[in-house]
Amino acid sequence: MIKVLFVCLGNICRSPLAEAIFKKKLETEGLSNKIHTDSAGTANYHVGENPDPRTIEIAEKHGVPVNHKGQQFKKHHQNEFDYLVAMDHSNYRNMTIELGSDPEKLLLMRDFDPAGKGQDVPDPWYGGMNGFEEVYQILDRSLDEFLSFIRKTHDL
Ligand code: 4NP
Repeated sequence: MIKVLFVCLGNICRSPLAEAIFKKKLETEGLSNKIHTDSAGTANYHVGENPDPRTIEIAEKHGVPVNHKGQQFKKHHQNEFDYLVAMDHSNYRNMTIELGSDPEKLLLMRDFDPAGKGQDVPDPWYGGMNGFEEVYQILDRSLDEFLSFIRKTHDL
């Protein structure tokens, strides 16, 4: 089983949405039994909580089921997952601090975005639904390319 962890700050907006979209793609492609996915936040503000209602709303609008409870990113995740995918550069930095190194498993989500390589997935927390729709579109296309990368790397 290949294991992928998506990581943002609060684990109620971007990373649970990435997890949900990726899960749906895996189901569509018949890869759910080969690739496992989860999400976490570098902060502990929302541990145990459901995703933000706006995350659920935007996912439902696109026919993507969301089912997650907030958890904090910890060092042990490095051993449990093959890929740790940060939503922005600040998450990436905080993860290296937690891990105490710059591990090869650590990736940046938008390094897979054909329309914005290396940029941040913007934090939609303080904005309105437009921001959530933008995040959805960014994740949807970045995750297509990320899945191609996983398929190629693991011969799937
Ligand atoms: P996320 O968004 O990192 O995409 O889950 C945020 C959620 C909560 C907060 C910040 C960002 N917060 O400050 O509580």
